[in-house]
Amino acid sequence: MTGRTAATATPAATPGDVAARATAGFRQRYGGQPAGRWAAPGRVNLIGEHTDYNDGFVLPFALPLRTVVAAAARDDERWTVWSELSADPVEFGPAEADEPGQVTGWAGYVAGVVWTLRAAGYAVPGARLAVASDVPVGSGLSSSAAVEAAVLAALVELGGLDLPADRWPRLAQRAENDYVGAPTGIMDQSAVIRGRAGHALFLDCRTEVVEQIPFDLDTAGLAVLVVDSRAPHRHADGEYAARRASCEEAARVLGVPALRDVAVADLDAALRKLSDGETRRRVRHVVTENQRVLDVVELLRTGRVRDTGPLLTASHASMRDDFEITVPEVDTAVDAALAAGAYGARMTGGGFGGCVLALVDADRAPAVADAVTAAYAERGFAAPGILTVRPAAGAARLD
Ligand code: GLA
Repeated sequence: MTGRTAATATPAATPGDVAARATAGFRQRYGGQPAGRWAAPGRVNLIGEHTDYNDGFVLPFALPLRTVVAAAARDDERWTVWSELSADPVEFGPAEADEPGQVTGWAGYVAGVVWTLRAAGYAVPGARLAVASDVPVGSGLSSSAAVEAAVLAALVELGGLDLPADRWPRLAQRAENDYVGAPTGIMDQSAVIRGRAGHALFLDCRTEVVEQIPFDLDTAGLAVLVVDSRAPHRHADGEYAARRASCEEAARVLGVPALRDVAVADLDAALRKLSDGETRRRVRHVVTENQRVLDVVELLRTGRVRDTGPLLTASHASMRDDFEITVPEVDTAVDAALAAGAYGARMTGGGFGGCVLALVDADRAPAVADAVTAAYAERGFAAPGILTVRPAAGAARLD
């Protein structure tokens, strides 16, 4: 990702390259040809933040940036994984796969997938895997969900497992929650597995029912800019877990299964039942954010894409003031994008850094990107990375 004008709003990567890198890695490490290559994308979330683990609504879409796994089955029950992120392959067997947390680092996501499949009773084939990725790590674009989904796709097919793709998100989430130990919701895995080109994925996180909502930016003359804030993730894991705990505690006090069960119309009454100001703010974010997702979906259904802008911006304000998960870098990117004419802008993902998205007229994209870059320079922040993206397909076999 770069930081200058026309190059600033770089269209996201050529899909062929990452696949070639995975294949080259496979040949070099293991010799011979992979049996196949499976890809899964990163994601951004158009709107619906910290609503997934509250049984609420989200509207993410899959990115054109992908992770590719070149893989082949082996005869024994062992898994060897190489990634272009690390020099040496990691190898593990059933002992490590069956004990959550035994394999750590990036390979833990792979071991987590083996674990989740075995725990669900599937006979997972041993395999050699080579992983290459265009999804930046640590930018909040779900590089971990992309690895999980691509590995899941590979193992399901190599083993001939009878496991329909609509069950993959829950299994991949379990890998992340219970093997790796990150208490995330189901949004990221759903987006990268069930996403469809030209669409945003409207997901009810309680029922897992999805609806593909047309999100055709080109026809509307629009673009989505994704700004990597480059902000270091400060205490992101602990803060995420704290937000989740606070929401669950609030639901308990309010006597509902989850905050999804509090409607906007009942918000004031609910807030009166909570004694603590911080908890009230957390609840107000989740309840209003769920409604904003529903409102954005309604606008997209009637083709009013530009009109979603103020809801995106309101979502950001809610994350900044009520959920308190933004940092100066993301607030600066949002403010600069809006001042330069974006219809709406918001942080996307878990928070404390990560990426901002901005909805802009396509022909304004370079100017908005420049304005964000200039605002960063003025504040003395490291230059942001900026991409233009459009909704792409979810996990699939490449060839
Ligand atoms: C992270 C988690 C998701 C979701 C978002 C916030 O991306 O992995 O499950 O909770 O944060 O919306």
